[in-house]
This record gives sequence, C-alpha cells and structure tokens, in this order.
Amino acid sequence: MEIISEIAGMRRRIAALPRPIGFVPTMGALHAGHLALASAARSACASVVVSLFVNPLQFAPHEDLARYPRDLAGDCAKLEVVGTTLLFAPDAAQMYPPGFMTSVEVGAMGGRYEGVARPTHFRGVATVVAKLLAIVTPDRLYLGQKDAQQTAILRRMVTDLGFATQVEIVPTVREADGVAMSSRNVYLSAEERREAVSLHRALVTLRDRLQEGASKAEAIEEASAKLGSLARLEYLDVVDAQSFDALDALRPPAFVIGAARFGQTRLLDNLWIQK
Ligand code: PAF
Repeated sequence: MEIISEIAGMRRRIAALPRPIGFVPTMGALHAGHLALASAARSACASVVVSLFVNPLQFAPHEDLARYPRDLAGDCAKLEVVGTTLLFAPDAAQMYPPGFMTSVEVGAMGGRYEGVARPTHFRGVATVVAKLLAIVTPDRLYLGQKDAQQTAILRRMVTDLGFATQVEIVPTVREADGVAMSSRNVYLSAEERREAVSLHRALVTLRDRLQEGASKAEAIEEASAKLGSLARLEYLDVVDAQSFDALDALRPPAFVIGAARFGQTRLLDNLWIQK
C-alpha cells in the first residue's frame, strides 16, 4: 500500500490508478466498521483509496480533537490486509493552507439531532469531504450507516454540488453484544461499556413498538426505559432516511436514531428500516 501526504502527489497518482476508484474517508483509529467500508470498496472497485485525516474543522473547541485516538502504524497494517491501494494521510497544513476561508454550508438537515449538540460539525464534515472528493475524484464513495445523518448530508452534498461519485452506504458493524463499533468506544469505562448496549436496546424497542402500531410518544417512552442508569439521553426519534425530517410514524425508508452520553462519551446509533 502506497502512502501519500501531499495533494500534488495524490493528483499524479490518481491519474494513473485503474478505475473504478472506491474511496473511504476516515479519521483513523480504524475498527472493523471502517474495514467493512474498505472491503466493500475492494470487492466492487479496481482501486481502493482511503484517507486518514483527523479533521479539526469538525470539532468544536471543547471537543476531543487533541485526545482523538491516533494509531497510524496500526491503521496501515489493517488497511494492507483488506487490500487498500493508496492511503492519503495529509497534515492540516495540506488541507487548510494559510488563508483558508472556503467552507460548505449545509442546510436545515445539519442543524437537527447531531447538529443541536454540535452546531458546526456538519459544516466541517461537508467541507473536508468536498475537498477530499476534489482530490481523489472517486467513482464510488463508501460511508458507514452508523453515522446516518452524516451520510444523508453527504449524499445531498454530492447531488447539490454535482460530484461525479456514487454514494454507497455500508451497514453498521456491531460488537458481539450489539454496541455499534466506534472509534470513541475506547473512551468508555468498563461500567459505561457494559451499559452502552442499552442504547441499541432502546432503538430496537422503538423500532419494534412502532412496527406494532404504537404511537410515537408511547414507543419513545418505552424505548427510553431501556436505557441504563448511566445513560443521559439526548434524543430518540424516527426520521425519513433521505431528508432526516422527523416522522410521526414509521414510514420506510427510515432510520430510528438515538444519541446518549455515557459519562463523558457521546454515543450515537441507528437502525435502518429500508422497507
Ligand atoms: O466519519 C468520519 O470519520 C468523518 O466525519 C469523515 C467522513 C472522515 C470526515 O472527516
């Protein structure tokens, strides 16, 4: 696997890569969820490009940018195993040169749910992904269902800004007990980790009760009761899969979504109801 850290070098190399190119943007600290994205790209594309960049623009000043887990050597070894062709690992000066002032504004979809807790987050995500798409020019962009709101916003951005890439969503990979894989799971204490599964259980209850015809208010109340005593709920809801507008009942394609804090760690999860 080749590693390139400069945009000019990427442009030269991308021009020579066999197409289709599948692209997986990451912030590193790779787990089985990221590797499922790279494997999906490997099985459908001639070349697999992964980016590793802990993007300062999507972290608010009080968030975990400085302590975000980093393991370049471990990440490279994992990416080799799944057949990655090229890793783009720029530094912040490459991505945001002095005087950088252009960003991608996302609409109302970026202001709800995750956008309430993290008001500048999706602008940072959309800006870096737009720049990465301009550099990598992939035929297919692979994103994880785990960050469902991010995938909906990026799908919209690809359409709105006319990027010539197809967006592929890869299902969430879970630990044996059902907890969604996340780079932030390493922050959980043993007790918080034991309780983290209650977020998944709440989402299963919410989906099942809505499918059984319960009202949304009843279903949310029953689902909330599944959360462990350490959980501080931020939201549970059912939303349209494309627009992320709240639904009053389960009308697929939809996501049931939730976020809760366990100690200092904010976890989010969702279930995708496609039909
Ligand atoms: O999901 C992530 O890891 C990040 O938000 C992404 C898409 C790599 C952009 O920095």
